[in-house]
Amino acid sequence: MKVIRTVNELKDWSAESRAQGLSIGFVPTMGALHAGHMSLVTRAREENDRVAVSVFVNPTQFNNPTDLATYPRTEEADLKLLEDAGVDVAFVPSVEEMYPEPDTRVFDLGPVAEVMEGAMRPGHFNGVAQVVSRLFEMVSPTRAYFGEKDFQQIAVIRRMVQLEGGFNGLEIVDVPIKREDDGLAMSSRNVRLTPEMRMAAPAIHRALINAAAQPRTLSPAEVIDLTVKEINSVPGLETEYFQIVDGHSCQPIARWEESDMPVGCITVYAGDVRLIDNVKF
Ligand code: PAJ
Repeated sequence: MKVIRTVNELKDWSAESRAQGLSIGFVPTMGALHAGHMSLVTRAREENDRVAVSVFVNPTQFNNPTDLATYPRTEEADLKLLEDAGVDVAFVPSVEEMYPEPDTRVFDLGPVAEVMEGAMRPGHFNGVAQVVSRLFEMVSPTRAYFGEKDFQQIAVIRRMVQLEGGFNGLEIVDVPIKREDDGLAMSSRNVRLTPEMRMAAPAIHRALINAAAQPRTLSPAEVIDLTVKEINSVPGLETEYFQIVDGHSCQPIARWEESDMPVGCITVYAGDVRLIDNVKF
């Protein structure tokens, strides 16, 4: 596996692969890799001739400086995992390499980016659009892989790709959420959970399963109410939001008939760790 740290070298590798007619699968990450990330890598490996993975903690998508400062960084272990998974290129740039000049672009991401994570974390999705558009430019992938764990992020990426003219027919592939045996969605942030909160956190997924099993005679608002109560009754867990949205537009629905793909999206504080999860109805 090649470890590439400069944009020029990455572009050369990509151009060379393309010149040989090889497809490139790309998985953008912020590192601290776990089996969730690796399920994206496996998928990319299966479907492409070449696989590139980026490991870059993108400052422009953090609206909270403490969150950025405490974000786990485990480069050596990450590179080992990627090498073992048969990745061709790990792109591990510095902040200066990614942003020689500050990125001041403002993307017109529209309604998908205004709700939920967009409302709670102002500027977050614009920062995601900035870094992912740069990465797409540098890698010129055939396919790019994103996890449904960050359900809204995929909708935002699709919108960004459309705004930017499609990146030469780039295909965005979404990959199901990978969970621990007890149902907790795998996340780089899970290592920051205290032992007590790690024990409590699977209640989030259990509540989502219960929510999806409720009869449709209950309205989305009633299901939301039940679910939030169930989660908040666990000591240490505090729901920030739970919304039932249309899976395409990410807009909240008032009645089930409004969507052919309702998705319940949630964020919960487990102590001071912010966890995100979702369920399809
Ligand atoms: P990061 O949180 O590192 O996640 C990288 C990719 O892994 C994302 O597409 C995310 O949805 C996916 N992922 C994380 N946990 C997962 C799980 N349990 N199951 C399935 N997929 C999972 O998302 C980002 O980084 C950044 O915003 C990024 C897109 C890299 C831009 O900086």
